[in-house]
Amino acid sequence: MYSIDAAQLATDIDTLATIVEPGTRGTTRRAFTAAYRASRSWVRTCMHEAGLVVDMDAAGNLVGRYPGLRPDAPVIMLGSHTDTVMEGGRFDGAIGVLGAIAVVRALRAHAITLQHTIEVVDFLAEESTPLGSLIGSTAMAQGFTAEYLARHVPGWGDVASCIAAMGGQPAQLTDPLRTSGMIGAYLELHIEQGPVLEAANVPIGVVTGIVGIRRCDVICHGRPDHAGTAGMQHRHDALAVAAAVILAAERAAQQRPGTVATVGSLTVAPNQTNVVPGSVRFSLEMRSVHWPEVLAIWDECMQALTDAATHRGVMCEVTPYEDSPPLSFAPWYTAIVADAVAPWTPTVVHVPSGAGHDGSMIGVIAPVAMIFVRTKDGRSHCPEEFAAHADIVAGVNAMLHTVCALDAVLA
Ligand code: GLV
Ligand code: MN
Ligand code: MN
Repeated sequence: MYSIDAAQLATDIDTLATIVEPGTRGTTRRAFTAAYRASRSWVRTCMHEAGLVVDMDAAGNLVGRYPGLRPDAPVIMLGSHTDTVMEGGRFDGAIGVLGAIAVVRALRAHAITLQHTIEVVDFLAEESTPLGSLIGSTAMAQGFTAEYLARHVPGWGDVASCIAAMGGQPAQLTDPLRTSGMIGAYLELHIEQGPVLEAANVPIGVVTGIVGIRRCDVICHGRPDHAGTAGMQHRHDALAVAAAVILAAERAAQQRPGTVATVGSLTVAPNQTNVVPGSVRFSLEMRSVHWPEVLAIWDECMQALTDAATHRGVMCEVTPYEDSPPLSFAPWYTAIVADAVAPWTPTVVHVPSGAGHDGSMIGVIAPVAMIFVRTKDGRSHCPEEFAAHADIVAGVNAMLHTVCALDAVLA
């Protein structure tokens, strides 16, 4: 049974984890930062040394090609991302990209030439930033509106300039970079970031689909006033409106098992102990594998916002900026993955993804599947995020065998 070079993969994961924003905790390598640019130049070298022909597409995705015998056949794409959240972990995204490179190394080491070209993709900016998320995969599968590319976010700049600064060519992104039929299958390895595989006592599992996510940005304009002299009935407290929405989101998700809703970012101005909050900006997101539940939580939150804002004389602007509907993976493809996973786990466990992934965008134009790796205590997006190397290696070996099976199955 072919297997990958586990020691080289461990070195690669350790090396990437050293390239972080100075003075930060955990693994912090946010999209569009200098650390991210440095890490991607290292990833490019890593791909090149593994024998991939490396290029950057117009979206700023790093794409490494391992040519197959049939250049006109659709490609088998393996990918993930190397940006992180603030104070995140070293495994989220990284093992998907570095694992895919390890797969190509193994193919070369065993002199396996495939019919289909393999493409290893390090997608640009998967994690959420004020500019959005899933940027490289969205550009690849859907393209962007001119309005989105021009969107300016204070402190970050506009989307087009950020993509250009990463080496992309934003003017080419109003049409999708790939269309249906070009990618025969997309496969992503990722840590589970949840508790299911650990509870089942298995190292890896087969993913059944990806949760749907709606996100928006909310700005509430109240009025700053003296916290001692402005009576309660005369206030226009913007933060009190945000608080009502935070609690409504929590309540709405708690009432619908399997759904989640989060306000993860909030900026208060002037943010002074003795000043009534004059304005507040916050993010709001909700997730479910059933899209109607996302819409129901949305409706409840918007109703709470309207009620709280009207009552306090606060004006609110809501800017929805992201809808990624849920994606269920095709049974023919998850069956292939299950066969490839089986030798590396005592039982084959199927698990849905509560996290978003580039696959949800690629799923618009290609069959998608994922392999998950057990995650300690289900923790992720925090410095404590951990996956045992033996489990990661099992996942990458399963990816290698999935690729070989796909090469035989795809036309
Ligand atoms: C990506 O990590 C997400 O689920 O937000
Ligand atoms: Mn993440
Ligand atoms: Mn991720």
